Amino acid sequence: MAPVDPHSFTDSSHPFATHLSLSLYFDFASSTIQGSALLTLPIPHSGNIYLDTRSLSISSVVDPQTLAPLPFSLSPVPDPIKGQNLTISLSNHSSFLITFATSPSASALQWLSSQQTFNKTFPFVYTQCQSIHARSIFPCQDTPAARLCYSARLNVPQQLSAVMSARHVERRPPVSGEAAMACDNALWCAEGRMVEEFTMEQPIPPYLFAFAVGELGFRDVGPRTRVYAESVPAVLDGAAREFAGTEDMIRHGEKLFGPYEWERFDLLVLPPSFPYGGMENPRMVFLTPTVIKGDASGAQVVAHELAHSWTGNLISNKTNEHFWLNEGFTTYAERRIVEAVQGEEIAALNTGIGWRGLNEEMDRFKDNMEFTKLKTKQEGVDPDDVYSQVPYEKGFQFIWRIERQIGRPAFDEFLKKYIATFKFQSIDTETFLNFLKVNIPGIEKEIDLVLWTEGTGIPPDAFEPVSNTYSKIFSLAKEFIHGRMPREDEVSDWHGQEWELYLENLPKSVEASQVAALDARYRLAESKNYEVKVAFLKLAISSGCREYFGEVEKTLKEVGRMLYLRPLYTALVQGSGKEEAKILAKRVFGEAQECYHPIARGVVESILLKHL
Ligand code: BES
Ligand code: ZN
Repeated sequence: MAPVDPHSFTDSSHPFATHLSLSLYFDFASSTIQGSALLTLPIPHSGNIYLDTRSLSISSVVDPQTLAPLPFSLSPVPDPIKGQNLTISLSNHSSFLITFATSPSASALQWLSSQQTFNKTFPFVYTQCQSIHARSIFPCQDTPAARLCYSARLNVPQQLSAVMSARHVERRPPVSGEAAMACDNALWCAEGRMVEEFTMEQPIPPYLFAFAVGELGFRDVGPRTRVYAESVPAVLDGAAREFAGTEDMIRHGEKLFGPYEWERFDLLVLPPSFPYGGMENPRMVFLTPTVIKGDASGAQVVAHELAHSWTGNLISNKTNEHFWLNEGFTTYAERRIVEAVQGEEIAALNTGIGWRGLNEEMDRFKDNMEFTKLKTKQEGVDPDDVYSQVPYEKGFQFIWRIERQIGRPAFDEFLKKYIATFKFQSIDTETFLNFLKVNIPGIEKEIDLVLWTEGTGIPPDAFEPVSNTYSKIFSLAKEFIHGRMPREDEVSDWHGQEWELYLENLPKSVEASQVAALDARYRLAESKNYEVKVAFLKLAISSGCREYFGEVEKTLKEVGRMLYLRPLYTALVQGSGKEEAKILAKRVFGEAQECYHPIARGVVESILLKHL
């Protein structure tokens, strides 16, 4: 009896469920879901089985054949990270049926009122399950070590439609019994319901479970790609234009990493509160609307989430302690796709931005070097609290180091073999290292694999990228310190990424007058590109420029992407003697938190707690 994952109650002596059949009744009036989950085991089991839950209420557990009740109990005191252990006692059962309800505060779900949507007509709800939030929607063995297939029936108000990271089977009226699930809100019940059915036939880790329900529209952008968003023609058209190149990227992905195994690659553009840039939900990637900038720069995020179709979704990290296997490999694969479609210079620029970010993280974790390792110990650690660039960029550096050692042709062959060998499995760092050593004999003599995977900091054989654009930007940033601003002709071909790299390479704080002069010339505070805008506002806050507080407040209230919230709130609360900035941070969070996803709310809360 031992846990298989520090973030789950799942026990190594219990079988992993291999199928889930889920019925969900959406009650928008109470922001809750009433559900039933039929879990199937590969073999009959006697004795206890442990499932993860968070803020779920469990009403019954029964034998699905006889409907006889099965004994169950919920651990009375929730673990702050893992939630509550649902223990069910089985006697030679190979399946069991649980009925439950979610809480309005379910950490995976954001419920938007009609007022919080673009059209302001219908409410909206969507999921974000990575890393450990699936358990707040349904009871499960919420560890990526346990992969399962599922079918789902989503009972929704008839004006709304549902999408899932699964195959859509049909939209139909409820059959008797389905409509009768607890429904205390007369309005939605009276207006009629529809059931949307889905099935996922490939085994996935629970963190890849995803749905969205709202007034959705779509545009076809390729033979296997459709982009969905709230049904606003301008949003849909903008998204269709931005993502027109998707099929080309999928083809490059297939050439590099092997067949695309998920049939469809649809995209869902979420409301601005979506806490990430993108989430690789299989068959249906979730995206922040901030990637639509009208200049096809959203392609990088799509390349990243697409790359997860091989690294992350086909081969998944066994636990979050090996998260670098997902994100490091994917960052490498993303840059290979970007290189193929946008060219070497842009890929190198992205590598430069990543290198810069990695070095900053070393500073952030200087008192807690554990999280500068690739393989981390996460007992008692909330993965959302230690989310950083390290698994992405140090992971990328490690894979790139191996590529440099053996050369690209050999590495490409290795990568294809790695994916074909472990597809639809969840693996750990050791499994990868063993495979590496077997397939590239002697590699451990050339590269210090232990230092790379278990050591802190950045190994000496990591590599700062070389690119003309990168070095030019870097030296321009150095000159700024001596008072020289870049000339118009020097920045005439800059896009968001060049500006981002430039701003990130300036000192943390500069003279307030320099900040104002830079903005007067280049209007960075008003940039439509949020990476640029946020990098500039961060500099403005740290340089004590109070005149930008209005813009900071506006930004914190219009987007919920943590990539922007984290640096802005941190800049506001960090450093002593900046009372006004701290008061602003507290007030804005108080006013904006309703609009943030629960995960983002938690992350901002912990930033404020640490510094106030
Ligand atoms: N899987 C991640 C998002 C994630 C990580 C969600 C950990 C929850 C916990 C996704 O693939 C990702 O990395 N998104 C990036 C995109 C970027 C690297 C292009 C993001 O959201 O910024
Ligand atoms: Zn990723």
